Amino acid sequence: MKRELGARGVTRVAGVLLDLGVSSPQLDEAGRGFSFAADGPLDMRMDPTRGETAAEWLDRATEQEIREVISTYGEERFAKQVAGAIVAARGREPIRTTRQLAEVVGGAVRTREPGKHPATRTFQALRIHLNQELAELEVTLPQAVDLLEPGGRLAVISFHSLEDRIVKTFLREGARADTLPRGVPVRAKDLPEPRLNLVGRAIRPSDAEVAANPRARSATLRVAERTGA
Ligand SMILES: C[S@@+](CC[C@H](N)C(=O)[O-])C[C@H]1O[C@@H](n2cnc3c(N)ncnc32)[C@H](O)[C@@H]1O
Repeated sequence: MKRELGARGVTRVAGVLLDLGVSSPQLDEAGRGFSFAADGPLDMRMDPTRGETAAEWLDRATEQEIREVISTYGEERFAKQVAGAIVAARGREPIRTTRQLAEVVGGAVRTREPGKHPATRTFQALRIHLNQELAELEVTLPQAVDLLEPGGRLAVISFHSLEDRIVKTFLREGARADTLPRGVPVRAKDLPEPRLNLVGRAIRPSDAEVAANPRARSATLRVAERTGA
């Protein structure tokens, strides 16, 4: 972000809005391979000009790697069973489509979360892993704060707990005044000012918004303002 804006002569901005995750067009276009709603090639790359597709990664990853990704990024409690089922299935024939994967995962996930397809967590996990979404978020947040002018605001919309946890921790850290070891004779007012002030609490969608746009149901908006520090 800093380099891209710098290349355009922009070094300070009044606000940054990050709308994280996957977009509706990416979900709705079967050819992008993000969703099991319609059958399509198992791709899942946000930038389809580079990197491995989900199918290529599932072809070569070890059962352990698959299990770790699904457990870490999908918080799927049947990650072991899902990884085992994927390895068994690919031994029979390569997994090439979203529907193939959804069926394999559906057979391995023993319980059903209300209103959720059994493959939801696995698809989310593969997507986050392939697009390095959490690592990129951790690289992006400090840059956004560096670019903000005093009084400028950072607003971040996240869509699942893993993203929101990173955003929440980052903003809280930025809003916390430095702490000094006990007994150091420094007055609080002489402590360096924190770089951020939190603006309000986390904002979640209203029932009316979720009714109008179900995809907003897991969204969380957090806002912080840049201080003069
Ligand atoms: C939730 S969507 C944004 C949707 C858009 N705000 C709208 O309302 O239509 C997030 C977008 O960010 C893109 N994206 C993901 N990682 C990115 C990155 N590291 N840099 C730039 N864009 C990224 C995705 O491809 C996706 O299109």
